[in-house]
Amino acid sequence: MYKIIVFIAITVLFHYVGHKSDGNSINYERSTSPDSALKNRLSFPLGAAVKIRHLRENTVYRNTLKNEFNSITAENSMKFEALQPNRNVYRWTNADYIVEFANKNNIRIHGHVLHWPKANPKWVLKYKGDSAILENILKSHIQTVMNHFKGKVRSWDVVNEVFDDDGKLKQTFWLKKLGPDYIGRCFQYARAVDSKALLFYNDYGQEYSMKKRHAIANMVASFKKRGIPIDGIGLQMHTRVGVSEAKIRAAIGVLAKTGLKLHISELEISARSKKTNIFKMEDDLEHQQAEKYNLIFKTYNTIPAKQRFGITTWNVSDADSWKNTKNKYFDFPLLFDHEYRPKEAYRAILKGLE
Ligand code: G3I
Repeated sequence: MYKIIVFIAITVLFHYVGHKSDGNSINYERSTSPDSALKNRLSFPLGAAVKIRHLRENTVYRNTLKNEFNSITAENSMKFEALQPNRNVYRWTNADYIVEFANKNNIRIHGHVLHWPKANPKWVLKYKGDSAILENILKSHIQTVMNHFKGKVRSWDVVNEVFDDDGKLKQTFWLKKLGPDYIGRCFQYARAVDSKALLFYNDYGQEYSMKKRHAIANMVASFKKRGIPIDGIGLQMHTRVGVSEAKIRAAIGVLAKTGLKLHISELEISARSKKTNIFKMEDDLEHQQAEKYNLIFKTYNTIPAKQRFGITTWNVSDADSWKNTKNKYFDFPLLFDHEYRPKEAYRAILKGLE
């Protein structure tokens, strides 16, 4: 009996000390029960980018997804390099696992990404010299993937990140070989397979680059004029606590004017200043981060309901954020902390909804 008491005491002490030693002095409430979850209070889906390994192996991760989110995006499992690692050899297992988890838990799954000039398997680079073959590789990849997930994945980032911050098209080998109209052809290839899927253009930096946000708006106008299908725009919003309210409003306001659905598709609010390497989340930064999350949700809520596709955070918690490596923390950008507990930002959004 004595041993049990000692064990419990040590466990409690360890937990308390362990808790304090990570520099977070804010008392976290335990994770919410599903009915009080933030997702049930929003007028749009709340999503997270999902890591396949965590989904397979981590129960807290799975439960947080089930309780706190109603939309998910595969962080990497639906990229070209993941789905077609070798020419005409498709690997569906991980992506199918994520789609099945989503369907089983009545969670929306958003497809990411049919074409991105990055994250392509090495074998594609071999064909960058031959335009006809490269076009065919692109078309068959888009159509094979859309066919495979047809009816289960009802929205896609068709094209990702083809503009530079100056609003000009990035000079990638895809652009050089296939010409600027290849971007519109990606949307046409996707529409030819699935007449109902929502087709998005996804990019970062609309909150800090006026030229980029106008380039995207102009592309949308040009697509409409030429009858090229597009239904939505993804604003990734990999942003930081210093971002100004004016910039958030400009990004959302300008792109909402296109009339398309807007998806804040990869939201994270870094509390790390450019200078610091090792980082501790102090109270004031936690508070600034909470204010900015609340601002983004409130601003997003002002666009017409039919345009609110949803807000997706890029990963689930600070523990699985792409910015941190295994057990080494450089940043704390998300709504849940490294033990999957709601942070001040989560509570600030809830309060902002009252
Ligand atoms: O799966 C391989 C593994 O087999 C290999 O051993 C390992 C070592 O190289 O690499 C693993 O692949 C890595 C993959 O993440 C899965 O962990 C890639 O190298 C790595 O480049 C990839 O990074 C991802 C990055 O996109 C590039 O695809 C990040 O996790 C992901 O968070 C990031 O997400 C992007 C969005 O898709 C688009 N918007 C920007 C955002 C952040 O860059």
